[in-house]
Amino acid sequence: MCKGGCGMKSKSVILSGIRATGRLHFGNFLGAVQNFVKFQQPGNTCLYFIADWHTLTTFQDPKELRGNLIEIVKDYIAAGLDPERSIIYAQSSVPEIAELCLYLSMIQPFGDLVRIPTFKDLIRKNPNNVNLGIVTYPVLMAADILGPRATLVPVGEDQIPNIELAQSLARKFNNHFGDTFVIPDMMMQMIRVPGLDGNKMGKSEADNAIDVNSPISVIRERYLKKGITDIERKRAKDPGDPYNRCQSVYPLHELITIGEAETRTIATACLEARIGCVECKHRLVDGIDKILGPFQEARAKLADKNDQIREILHEGGKKARVLVRETTMVVREKMGIVIH
Ligand code: ADP
Ligand code: TRP
Repeated sequence: MCKGGCGMKSKSVILSGIRATGRLHFGNFLGAVQNFVKFQQPGNTCLYFIADWHTLTTFQDPKELRGNLIEIVKDYIAAGLDPERSIIYAQSSVPEIAELCLYLSMIQPFGDLVRIPTFKDLIRKNPNNVNLGIVTYPVLMAADILGPRATLVPVGEDQIPNIELAQSLARKFNNHFGDTFVIPDMMMQMIRVPGLDGNKMGKSEADNAIDVNSPISVIRERYLKKGITDIERKRAKDPGDPYNRCQSVYPLHELITIGEAETRTIATACLEARIGCVECKHRLVDGIDKILGPFQEARAKLADKNDQIREILHEGGKKARVLVRETTMVVREKMGIVIH
């Protein structure tokens, strides 16, 4: 195990996916992609994919889906994912994942799927298309994870019920058909990046996200106009309460401002009314710029490299397929399915 309690074993298979429902936002970047990058170390097998089948459960614009997929992979690469050290692929390029999902669905009770909080959340956000794909969403996710025998799945806390379901499916299958699947660990260090309104930053939430590819001037304007601070603090000379009342700006400072001392300086200045919310927002955006500046520079170089990205996806798909096919063959055989 790693000392930080992240659940990492010495030989880990790290796997995570992102849906292609939109472009990457700063919450995805800090909460997911930056971790993905850190895992690329000798001894680790890293698999990072775009969950395009999962995307279809709620997002069915073919042109946008295709575009998002390519653009997110550009974001991955610009953020530091290296196709030489990580297997980067589209879920749909591994058909055995769908086959594995079918086998797993045979041992998954229906009732659990409609009680899981992630199901309730998806239908709350998509009341007009409560399709079967939404019901089986966690089973497909279990196939994503169990297929390549992932040992660790870094995801945000909203995904915990889905990972627990994958763990329970793996245990159930192993008990019934004999040891087959690796039980994946969840990553315990998870952050929640606040959006401009203080709720969790998300693509689908009410315009509260910062697009990682927005010019910094646009990000600054968005924070100045929409970033919610301490609503009880009426004037800059009133003391603020960054810890309890500031909704979006100070909590993000805590996540990105380098060094505890620097973060504490900002908090103390706010508590003592030595810094106003506008100044605090400027400092926050300067911090965002430090993180996104180098990223955006690398990203600009990939703008017209669609063919290169397709090639990366093609190669990644082939590698992932080898891993998933191996598991699927074992599952087929254990369940009594033979190829004639
Ligand atoms: P969204 O919620 O915007 O649709 P996704 O569900 O596609 O984003 O999330 C992709 C990954 O990014 C997941 O691992 C998720 O937990 C993580 N993530 C998304 N939003 C945040 C956030 N605000 N803070 C931390 N991690 C996040
Ligand atoms: N459901 C995940 C999300 O919305 C995306 C995802 C699909 C995923 N399959 C996965 C994440 C497998 C981790 C492992 O964020």
